[in-house]
Amino acid sequence: MARGEIIRKLFQSFSRNEREGFYAAAMELIQEEKSKNHNLLARDLERILQNGHSKALSVSNTLYKNYPEVPKDRETGLSLIDISPFDLTWDDVVLNQDNLEVLQRVTLENRKQEILEAYGLRPKSKLLFCGPPGCGKTLTAKVLSGTLGIPLVYVNLTAVFSSYLGETATNLKKIFDYVEKGEWVVLFDEFDAIARDRNTLNEHGEVKRLVNSLLQLIDTSNSNSLFIAATNHESLLDNAVWRRFDEVLFFGKPDLELRMALLKRYLSRIRHSTINLKDFAADLEMATGADIERICIDTIKTVILRGDRELTHADLKTAVGRYLERNRIIANSENSVEAENCESV
Ligand SMILES: Nc1ncnc2c1ncn2[C@@H]1O[C@H](COP(=O)(O)OP(=O)(O)OP(=O)(O)O)[C@@H](O)[C@H]1O
Ligand SMILES: [Mg+2]
Repeated sequence: MARGEIIRKLFQSFSRNEREGFYAAAMELIQEEKSKNHNLLARDLERILQNGHSKALSVSNTLYKNYPEVPKDRETGLSLIDISPFDLTWDDVVLNQDNLEVLQRVTLENRKQEILEAYGLRPKSKLLFCGPPGCGKTLTAKVLSGTLGIPLVYVNLTAVFSSYLGETATNLKKIFDYVEKGEWVVLFDEFDAIARDRNTLNEHGEVKRLVNSLLQLIDTSNSNSLFIAATNHESLLDNAVWRRFDEVLFFGKPDLELRMALLKRYLSRIRHSTINLKDFAADLEMATGADIERICIDTIKTVILRGDRELTHADLKTAVGRYLERNRIIANSENSVEAENCESV
């Protein structure tokens, strides 16, 4: 293929986020350089390509297309896991500097695990994500799947724990047998599914037992996967459990600077040059990432439906006002439920 054509393919696949297309075009370019005896350059390009995405390139072609059949719960027939690849990058999530640094380091260790293994070292592979709903735990797991170039195995803990307790251990075993077949980011999301039955489970020490057996399965796993547990009920986990994770990250509500970054990120698809985002970020003190995304989408829709192409200060003010009003209604209703409960005691 002509050089210009290869470069066009490279750019197209990059802009469409097509990892495999990009890889194919890059390999063609390398072959072309080799055929011209530009061996130094060809080797250098090969090294850059492999270093950046060694996991992605080795497994994506086989695993992205041919996942083995997923395990199901015997009683309910529900799938215990979902699998998907994600093409997200660090630009897709707004994180504080500390969390970003920890996660980028984890990514680096996992990308270069062969090098670490040569020294008898293992990459960090057990992460605990905690913090309130809507602050980016699940999204970050998807970004890790994208940056490592390995698919995300999403473990549906509600399905795992839906059966009577005897079946739970069997379900966990089935999941781990599956995980051994490949290299994945494995997300045990909504760890708080355990909390759903916490009264009955806690009475018998079951939460502790389940979390322990899960951690044991992770410890003895031979897969080179990255395991993540996410919860917004971290108080249910005791100290012994926290210590068994390589990293524990708290995803809190965003501060002023992060709220500005979130507004910028979610308003990026529409012109908004006249708006002072800082003022709005200041008004959104209690908002989560999910709230800010919703406000932005709401206001962008208003502009599009009006037939305009630029967001105004008034548009965003209306959307933020609606959000604050909605919060006020929810807070009032929570207060009145509390008052009723007090009266009935
Ligand atoms: N830090 C963030 N950066 C960018 N987008 C965010 C962030 N936090 C939340 N969002 C937006 O809100 C959505 C919901 O967030 P996510 O599912 O990651 O929250 P969570 O912390 O997993 O919540 P839960 O505890 O309810 O599972 C995301 O898909 C994303 O669109
Ligand atoms: Mg989540």
